[in-house]
Amino acid sequence: MKVLGINAIYHDPAAALVVDGRIVAAAEEERFSRRKHGKRPLPWSAWELPELSAAWCLAEAGIHPEELDAVAYSFDPSLMGTPEDSGLGDDGDVMRKMYAEKAPEFLAHALPGLDPAKVRYVKHHVAHAASAGLAAPTQDNSVLVLDGRGEAHSHLAGRYVDGQLEILAGQALPHSLGLLYEDLTDHLGFLRSSDEFKVMAMASYGKPRFVGELSELVVATEDGGFRTPKIDFSAFAPRLRKGEDWTEAHADLAASVQQRTEEVLLDLARWLHDRTGDTTLTLAGGVALNCVANTRIFAETPFEHVWVQPAAGDAGTALGSALHVARGLGETTEPMPGADLGRGWSDDEIEQYLTTAAIEYERPRDVADAVAEVLADNGIVAWFQGRSEYGPRALGHRSLLAHPGYEANLERMNDVKGREQFRPVAPMVLAERAPEIFSRGPVPSRYMLFVHDVAQEWKARIPTVTHVDGTARIQTVDRAEEPLVARMLECFERRTGIPVVVNTSLNTAGRPMVDDPRDALECFGSAPVDLLAIGPFVVRRSRPTPRTGQV
Ligand SMILES: [Fe+2]
Repeated sequence: MKVLGINAIYHDPAAALVVDGRIVAAAEEERFSRRKHGKRPLPWSAWELPELSAAWCLAEAGIHPEELDAVAYSFDPSLMGTPEDSGLGDDGDVMRKMYAEKAPEFLAHALPGLDPAKVRYVKHHVAHAASAGLAAPTQDNSVLVLDGRGEAHSHLAGRYVDGQLEILAGQALPHSLGLLYEDLTDHLGFLRSSDEFKVMAMASYGKPRFVGELSELVVATEDGGFRTPKIDFSAFAPRLRKGEDWTEAHADLAASVQQRTEEVLLDLARWLHDRTGDTTLTLAGGVALNCVANTRIFAETPFEHVWVQPAAGDAGTALGSALHVARGLGETTEPMPGADLGRGWSDDEIEQYLTTAAIEYERPRDVADAVAEVLADNGIVAWFQGRSEYGPRALGHRSLLAHPGYEANLERMNDVKGREQFRPVAPMVLAERAPEIFSRGPVPSRYMLFVHDVAQEWKARIPTVTHVDGTARIQTVDRAEEPLVARMLECFERRTGIPVVVNTSLNTAGRPMVDDPRDALECFGSAPVDLLAIGPFVVRRSRPTPRTGQV
């Protein structure tokens, strides 16, 4: 069976392909269109489809649209009421519903040969749930979905047994932990449904002194749901315009909302565990990208394992809807093998790009060691290897790497990327070395979706990646899964004594992550990066970039 999954309705349009129960390809449209998040989640853009990523998924598998058994669309317009029904009063919903109803025809137009009757609607939160519960390595699990909104809900709690979902609770709109966080993002002068992770970063600079007031407003209910009344955030800290400086009160407000969100999530997870008694909890929905909350769920609830879909935002519903429909067609689906489900190039193809660009390049004996040498000398490396990642995190395939031992490297990396200085960068570490340096969060932590405490004796040795609150958002690297990245880490440790490397996504300000070799060359050409490691080749900067803050 060949099932194509599509996410299109709000933001992060994406496509995924499941063939005979196996995940063959998954990619976000932004990586092709080079437009961050693919589109803004406006009602009049709801019709836009992930045309480029969908076409690529099919081409990758050598499938023509007429050969598809089904196309799964991760939103069901029949479940969407009127703007008044949701309590949100969003008149744009009329247009969203209409465009979703027309999606089969739009899809047939975008993928010539596709029979529109093959398009199946999947409830948005069921698509999110499947992206976690069916993609996780443990087959039977509890699942919790939390996002801004779906058709009429913002939450699902349930359980997968033998690949079948049993829904145990669902919170109807207008209550939404995701929309609450989005409202705060907007209040703090950031971009709604895009910059929520900046609020999470800002929260670590504040004290949660408003949490008492919030605890009376934002509460979990006994039926597994919650209440989130509209909050006037200006009562705590004045509204900020874009780029305006934030004050202590703003950081304190962010810290308070963050803490209250964590507390309600803990209540929801405990409620679910009381009903299922499962050992594994799986998470999806944009709220599941909140690494701080994820660690508390892991550390403070009875669930022994917590697995989070790396594309937890709406992009992941392309994969989830495809898995759900494949199951419905009688397939036994396989867990996702890793996040590297996007585009990749052969060595010959990469060399062709380098030849066309007419730049000097080398093929070192071991690219991992060549990179480690530059990193040990405090250079910055653009690392382009294998297939690109599905989801917002660079996980060693499209990464910007640096030495973690220099405090000034945080500012340097944020300058390279042209972003705010309060934003942290994250460490990658060999899985077997992680427990001696990082604690509290789970190990392994393959997808960089939890925060860990940095051991006291390591804080001064890896200051670039140790956040102001003494934590780090780690990615553990398994030698069997990522042999090249593991070897690079080993080579770096041999030279420096530090088994940790700074890893942030390979992109510059406001742009999506690098995806193809041309993007990598453009990024390398415009940013102060010392080395581009692309496949087995390296391209060197003729002059070293400025190195500051040597300790
Ligand atoms: Fe969603």
